[in-house]
Amino acid sequence: MKIVVFFSGTGTNLKSILDHQNKYGYEVCACFTNNPKAEGLIFCQEYGVNCKIIDHKDFDDREEYDGLINSFLENLNPDLIVLAGYMRIMSKPLIDNWEGQIINIHPSLLPKYPGLCTHQRALKAKDNVHGSTIHYVTSELDAGPIIRQESFNIEPSDTKESLIDKVKNLEHKIYPETISSLIK
Ligand code: GAR
Repeated sequence: MKIVVFFSGTGTNLKSILDHQNKYGYEVCACFTNNPKAEGLIFCQEYGVNCKIIDHKDFDDREEYDGLINSFLENLNPDLIVLAGYMRIMSKPLIDNWEGQIINIHPSLLPKYPGLCTHQRALKAKDNVHGSTIHYVTSELDAGPIIRQESFNIEPSDTKESLIDKVKNLEHKIYPETISSLIK
């Protein structure tokens, strides 16, 4: 089973997905990033996975940009497209073309806190729990059908940084497990 992983930043979820390939029987056949400076590129090098880099800053038109992504995907014809910290909104034609095959992981208990700054928003609201959600991507931002959600208690000592760490630790476990469950 072939998957393509999209990322924009540090790529720790990408690393965890790569680490679990043998255990869960999927193959990361390629990666994609919109950010030529993404730290996650180092993992593509380490694991010998080809990464297509297209800098979104070179494009004014989102649909033109996403058209290139679509061609990239059509060449690979993956079973699953996995967004792992990919911080660009995808246009409707791209999403429609791969309907039911794109999944995303979001650092909040959706439908709470779609969009950005989820950890700060949970702290500001004095929430007792926080977590992460894996969902199908639809053209409504962070609102597609939920596949899996896991939570933990927020402690009085928690900060934005500690919540980022706790959420990522959780994600590194549940994302590979979920990918595996979807491709079987
Ligand atoms: C993850 O926590 C992921 O949930 C979040 O970005 C982080 C990426 O970390 N995704 C979003 O906010 C998407 N809206 P990583 O690059 O270290 O895997």
